[in-house]
Amino acid sequence: MCGIVGYTGTVPAAPVLLDGLAKLEYRGYDSAGIAVAEGGKLQVVRRRGKVAELAHTVGHFDLTGKSGIGHTRWATHGRPSEANAHPHVSCAGDIAVVHNGIIENFADLREELSQRGHTFRSETDTEVIAHLIEETYADLSKGASTTSEASGLLEAVRLASMRLVGSYGLAVMSSKEPGVIVTTCKDMPIIVGKGSDGAYVASDAIAVIGATRDVVFLKDGHLARLTCDDIAFFDGYGKSVTEETTHISWDMDVAEKGGYPDFMLKEIHEQPRVIRDTLKGRLVAGHLEIDELDMTAEELNLIDRVYIIACGTSYHAGLIAKEQIEGWARIPTEVEVASEFRYRNPIITPTTLVVAVSQSGETADTLAAIRDARIKGARVFGITNVLGSPVARESDGVIYTKANKEIAVASTKSFLGQLVSLSLLALLLAQAKGKMRMNQIRLIFRELGDTAEQVERILADTSAIDEAARACVDATSALFVGRGMGAAIAKEGALKLKEISYLHAEAYAAGEMKHGPIALIDEGFPVIAIATQSPVYDKVISNVQEAKARGALVVAIATEGDKEIANHADHVIYIPKVRDALSAITASVPLQLLARSIAVIRGCDIDQPRNLAKSVTVE
Ligand code: G6P
Repeated sequence: MCGIVGYTGTVPAAPVLLDGLAKLEYRGYDSAGIAVAEGGKLQVVRRRGKVAELAHTVGHFDLTGKSGIGHTRWATHGRPSEANAHPHVSCAGDIAVVHNGIIENFADLREELSQRGHTFRSETDTEVIAHLIEETYADLSKGASTTSEASGLLEAVRLASMRLVGSYGLAVMSSKEPGVIVTTCKDMPIIVGKGSDGAYVASDAIAVIGATRDVVFLKDGHLARLTCDDIAFFDGYGKSVTEETTHISWDMDVAEKGGYPDFMLKEIHEQPRVIRDTLKGRLVAGHLEIDELDMTAEELNLIDRVYIIACGTSYHAGLIAKEQIEGWARIPTEVEVASEFRYRNPIITPTTLVVAVSQSGETADTLAAIRDARIKGARVFGITNVLGSPVARESDGVIYTKANKEIAVASTKSFLGQLVSLSLLALLLAQAKGKMRMNQIRLIFRELGDTAEQVERILADTSAIDEAARACVDATSALFVGRGMGAAIAKEGALKLKEISYLHAEAYAAGEMKHGPIALIDEGFPVIAIATQSPVYDKVISNVQEAKARGALVVAIATEGDKEIANHADHVIYIPKVRDALSAITASVPLQLLARSIAVIRGCDIDQPRNLAKSVTVE
């Protein structure tokens, strides 16, 4: 969740770190801080709140040092405060550490270190790392024996990290080794790269690609030692190794708003491109091909059970895919939130396929569920947006959603990329199992492609959405209802509204409304109904009438040409006609815009909603 960045090179480090932190801020924005090597010492500046606050404070210092590390925090251990902000330093202030992840044995380590005389100044789990490294470094300086090729700070970090239980991406500096940054990781991403003006480390490529597009994704347990001119890599035994470089091809403009008032709106508008890119090259000589899955048609044919595991918005993409996989490929499919799946004992056999859906590719619960499923013998496919992410690396096969970097915390374009990728997977399974005729599969593939233009049409005129938003803005709560596909779409609509407008929102299968939620409805209570053309359209209309009869303010998402709906709804948002199985792709877009529009009127921070972070790397 937290963002970390480090730089050592030929220009002052502070502006480079602040720029990197601004790009990483979507990972957490409770506090921010930097440490810069300055005249033989480490100068640490930290602030509660956002990176802009830190930048303002840094402006009062005359920092000229050319190496440093920085951090933007999403609080786990210890409330958001300056004392708990990273970097954390050792007793003598000569070791500084920034950390992304959780140290599970921090309480034991803290107790042990305190007994040996270390003084702690924060409530964080991270601070133990600084003290551990301080001790190890001192032991090494006294000539403690080591068997590795590493020495100094590198060896101290290597030995100290062997005592850590949990997950970490670390960047560490010592005032005794100016110009050196040591980094290591376990279950958290670390990316390093060499630019023309120095070496960079970060928890996300976005903070590095301004300097270089050729980066190394550090392997778990490996270390890197960065200096102005060189990056040296070591394995967990301290033995020098060579790492593979990956070229990052996405445009730098992903980090710019491009004229939009916020990233969320920009990313909503990118969705037609995402749909097209995700489908590109998938139909070859009339057949669907997803080579990256690395499974033969015969192996796919043997699959007799599918589990889709994910969190948040990605879980909702899974709910929609369940309908497609069961409908098209006729394979029983379960969708589970990863944090539950990992602690259950699901029935997994060698013919079970587990599909892990994660935009960031680093959600802790999803990763843990992948590992668990593989141990139990399942084949795991990852669907992710991030090249080389842990989910991609740890799955047997991967489909990339081609959304490009998503910055707004509320997921939009990667959700659509997931819907399209999962639709492809469902069709592929149907093809392998011979459950659909090829011309039917080709027809649906074409219709999937058509949704790009249909989304463009929705985006071209949002006046009905804005009007509905104005009508809902004074509510304190809202109900989203639908049936079949509509029930899953409703869940994502409610989540978007909660996330960014802080309005309480709940989603219900419309038929269930009368078993409880209908009690909430009184005069003007917003009910957002997914009432697109589907086999259950008439049933949804009945439920809408039940809500209307009790005074609800009904906003309906309906299919163009549907005159009937206007008799029952206060506001109708029309969307182009698509087959029901693909309706989530189009119907989700007005719900994204509705949530955003309500949040804008309520004056909320659209891209960085309170308490949330884009990637959730803690349990
Ligand atoms: C966080 C984000 C959500 C996201 C969820 C799962 O809660 O705020 O937008 O859907 O994590 O993330 P993932 O990266 O695994 O899709």
